[in-house]
Amino acid sequence: MNDRNLALEVVRITEAAALASARLMGRGDRMLADHVAVEAMRRAFDTIDIRGTVVIGEGERDEAPMLYIGEKVGAGWLDNDADSPKVDIAVDPLEGTNLCATGAPDAISVIAIADDGQFLNAPDTYMQKIAVGPECRGQIDLRESVTWNLQRVAAAKGKKVEEVTAIILERDRHNDIIAEVRAAGARIRLITDGDVAGAVLTAMPESGIDVLFGTGGSPEGVISAAAMRCTGGELQGRLRYRNDDERARAAKMGVKPEDHIYMTDELAQGNVMFAATGVTQGYLLDGVTFTGGGAKTQSIVMRSKSGTVRRIHATHRFDTKPAYFAAGGR
Ligand code: FBP
Repeated sequence: MNDRNLALEVVRITEAAALASARLMGRGDRMLADHVAVEAMRRAFDTIDIRGTVVIGEGERDEAPMLYIGEKVGAGWLDNDADSPKVDIAVDPLEGTNLCATGAPDAISVIAIADDGQFLNAPDTYMQKIAVGPECRGQIDLRESVTWNLQRVAAAKGKKVEEVTAIILERDRHNDIIAEVRAAGARIRLITDGDVAGAVLTAMPESGIDVLFGTGGSPEGVISAAAMRCTGGELQGRLRYRNDDERARAAKMGVKPEDHIYMTDELAQGNVMFAATGVTQGYLLDGVTFTGGGAKTQSIVMRSKSGTVRRIHATHRFDTKPAYFAAGGR
């Protein structure tokens, strides 16, 4: 995959989805915000010269009309262009639907791309995760206790445990983790949604976030792992099924045994790239600002091959843009 130019191209896709869903910020309708993000992202794919296959998307074909698992996306298919790169696509057009619906921080639109066959085809279930930035790579272990991991993170960063900050989804299932972090004396930022942004923040030195603990979506785990590959950080994950139906579906997808700890490069192998655009104003990215006839966006783009992390501030004019940039309001 010639991913140098592609990395700068794919950001248009997350920009389109972010611009569409940001129009619905705070309207209390998470489904509609997600729907317009999906539509905008799907249309934007037609302008990018790839032959992509969605491996992480909006669900199975029978439950998602667009960006379903297995869907072919990209102009390369439309043009029947054998030279256009064949890639795996992992998308979350609106990661943090509730965050957008309420205007809370860190709703983002996100995409990750890898060479054909390089993402774990993760079943739509939960994943227990731990994520850290580059200084702590090789220092964490999901099998060990929260306290053990906090001590390792602190040592790797030359901090006291009391100075380590964990980011954790605020869920009842995390009460024990939260209690253990507090007992260890570390700091916590609880988030109501959005553990992709949470994971990526651990790799952003200026964020002050050192480690992500907790269980969230497994598709989000694969997307986060792609970002960690690019930043040099680490994410370990263990699939957590909610019921036997999910277990049976996963078995058909050929996943490893239930106690297997997936390491970062089992989730996202080879050359990967990651792009995200802020929807709501957040700690990771600025949200969309509408300026009258246009809008401003902030995105982050990274590639595993170079490890370069770019932040892209864009000013969009709706009068000169394709319809998918300007549309979205209902
Ligand atoms: P949506 O964007 O689908 O609303 O997901 C948001 C999210 O918070 C993810 O970031 C996280 O992985 C997952 O939901 C957690 O799931 P649950 O809300 O069931 O605890």
